[in-house]
Amino acid sequence: MCGIVGYVGHRNVSDVIIAGLQSLEYRGYDSAGMAVLEAPGITIVKGVGKVSDLRKMLSERPLCGSQGIGHTRWATHGGVTEENAHPHCDSSSNIVLVHNGIVENYREIRSEIPGEYRSETDTEVVAQLLSTLYRGNMVGALVELQSRLRGSFALAIMAKDLPGKIYCLRKGSPLVVGMSRDGESLCASDVPAILPYTQDVVYLDDGDISELSTAGIRFWNAAGESVEKRVSHIDWDVSMVDKGGYPHFMLKEINEQGAVLRNSMAGRISGRRVVLSEELPWTRDDVLSWKKLHVVACGTSYYAALVAERFLEDITGFDIRVDVASEYRYRNIMAGPDTLAVFVSQSGETADTLAAERLAMGKGARCLAVTNVLGSTLAREVHDILQLKAGPEIGVAATKTFMGQITVLYLLALHLAKLQGRLPAAMEEELVGEMLSLPYKVEAVLARQESLQKLAAIYSAAEDFLYLGRGRSFPVALEGALKLKEISYIHAEAYAAGEMKHGPIALLDRNVPVVVITPKDGLHEKTFSNILEAKARRAPVIALVTEGDSSLDGTADHVFPVPATLDQFTPFVTVVPLQLFAYYFAKFLGCDIDQPRNLAKSVTVE
Ligand code: AGP
Repeated sequence: MCGIVGYVGHRNVSDVIIAGLQSLEYRGYDSAGMAVLEAPGITIVKGVGKVSDLRKMLSERPLCGSQGIGHTRWATHGGVTEENAHPHCDSSSNIVLVHNGIVENYREIRSEIPGEYRSETDTEVVAQLLSTLYRGNMVGALVELQSRLRGSFALAIMAKDLPGKIYCLRKGSPLVVGMSRDGESLCASDVPAILPYTQDVVYLDDGDISELSTAGIRFWNAAGESVEKRVSHIDWDVSMVDKGGYPHFMLKEINEQGAVLRNSMAGRISGRRVVLSEELPWTRDDVLSWKKLHVVACGTSYYAALVAERFLEDITGFDIRVDVASEYRYRNIMAGPDTLAVFVSQSGETADTLAAERLAMGKGARCLAVTNVLGSTLAREVHDILQLKAGPEIGVAATKTFMGQITVLYLLALHLAKLQGRLPAAMEEELVGEMLSLPYKVEAVLARQESLQKLAAIYSAAEDFLYLGRGRSFPVALEGALKLKEISYIHAEAYAAGEMKHGPIALLDRNVPVVVITPKDGLHEKTFSNILEAKARRAPVIALVTEGDSSLDGTADHVFPVPATLDQFTPFVTVVPLQLFAYYFAKFLGCDIDQPRNLAKSVTVE
């Protein structure tokens, strides 16, 4: 969590930092601040609130300079106060730094370095420790600093006596650096902050130290040895990180899902056949040697994994286990060389998912990352990668990356089944042919969003919702309820429809709407009985059905039809109305949709 930006160049640094922090605000938004070198000293402006509040502070107290570091915070150590906002400095005010991550042994260090501390943060302790280690050689001090700190951190540092230079240190938390053609050097927690200046970046590895100046960027490893780093070209451009005329990133991203489906399939399908052998150079023997398939993720990515689980079990012969990373990592997991372990993470930086991946790697499993971010820690640690190709997702509530994840996981399932010799050509052609039609079907749902806006207004007084689905529609219900909770703060529970009678039915009355995902599939009739049970308790029912299905007319209070597709693909079309319903519901309530309270997009704490 937390976003870091650093800049040294020729522009007004406060404009660069504000713009950079705004593009990283999805990482945290409870307070913000920046430090600018205003010779002969360093000036800090910070406070509680969003980056827009920091901008207001700067209009009253403009900062002049072309070198600085900035931060947007998601509070961990210490409450949301001005004192705890970053940047922090040592007691002599020579060293100033911003930090993303958690230093686990900060209390121990704080007791070793007595003095007056102005904040409750672990970050201020790091500034004090660095000050005791620094004797004119910053790289040497940073080598020592990282050997003293436990936990995860990304730091951007300036020192009053080292004008023109910003130092970066990474261990566990992401940090990327880049240099423009005009001699501007930047660092940031994520590429969107750097994209307006350059698309060529270097992802720091654990232990890496870098020094940014207008003369270039230099790198050292954890031992303090000078190293060369590989430059990665980012194929996202700066227009992808603006709202493109939409009122919110979330709405823009929901509306991009037809394109996401196309991009995620592009180059991976030829005719009506799946072609993944370049990205996943597995042999038939490799695949046959894997007896188990583990799919591990958090939040929305976990629900995407649950959707894919049904397809994987239909067409591959694997013994499948799908788990949330924060549980998987603490269990006695039976993984080994006979296991293919798939880690699904939009960001590739989620702490629990990374810990689960390291556990599986340590046990000898073959590890595959399904992620949107090629330079992410997850992508760099595993054996194989499948990129989502969804483009940057800025809204904190994941939408288009869910679509990208289920698309890529379905392609993976087809690829595995093919290598296993379990996918007859005719079946592959039928399934892939249907996949190719999905972008149009998703776009047909998007074209009818006005009716979901009206539906959200009708139910806007409800305080509790129940979401139900069976089979593949159950994880869709989980995802729909999560979206509503995240952005409107309305209580929404999701259950497998058949489980309602085992408890949650006690909640139902005329004030608890039930959203039922019931496309015309093999379980439709079973779910119909559950709808009758809900109606018998006077609960209003909103049903997602397949176009042409009139079986719920007169029974459900509201019906939203989705285009027909094969049973296996219904989640692609049923999830979209739920995303839109949540969006319009939150909009109706006036919630902060792109930056919902208490959340951050990249969850780098455990
Ligand atoms: C989704 O709307 C959430 N904000 C959250 O559940 C998210 O999916 C989860 O934190 C996992 O993130 P990842 O995909 O980046 O690993």
